[in-house]
Amino acid sequence: MSGLSKDEQIVIANRGGPLQQVRRRIMAWTSIAITGYIATLVGVPVVGFILAPMFRSPKYQWRQVGDVNSFTIGQTVLVKFANYDALSWACAVAQSAAWLRRTGDLDFTAFSINCTHLGCPVRWEPDADLFFCPCHGGVYYADGTVAASPPPRRLSEYPVRVNGGQVEVLAVPISLPGRHL
Ligand code: FES
Repeated sequence: MSGLSKDEQIVIANRGGPLQQVRRRIMAWTSIAITGYIATLVGVPVVGFILAPMFRSPKYQWRQVGDVNSFTIGQTVLVKFANYDALSWACAVAQSAAWLRRTGDLDFTAFSINCTHLGCPVRWEPDADLFFCPCHGGVYYADGTVAASPPPRRLSEYPVRVNGGQVEVLAVPISLPGRHL
């Protein structure tokens, strides 16, 4: 590097020649491309998983809750079934329940267990023929209508049917206070 001052030689040595600069630029772009590729590979499924429920219309499904002959006419029993949006990993959170009453040979009523006041689970008391809510003393008659406030309205009901000898409840979302369907 004759003709160059000592300082200029040091600058060129540190910066590298034109070939090294091209190599550095290629490395930088390759690194950016690989990072972008990995971010896309990881990010797209994660974003898709988060946003998918917003665009997926719920598919309400009939859930079997028992053989029709396992229920006695006039009795009200608790039945459990998978939620309408049950995910395989959700375990107990994916479970819902209803108070099921057999009212005839093939006639059933399925009351939501959730109080219409603030959503606490109501319990059926066969001796009193009433549903009681443990939270604020709400009471419902056997037909689901309000017997004592504060519940503002009757118990919600699930559609229910008999299909092939099985009682089936349609797992739909139930309107609760503060929950907008
Ligand atoms: S939640 Fe049932 S009475 Fe308040």
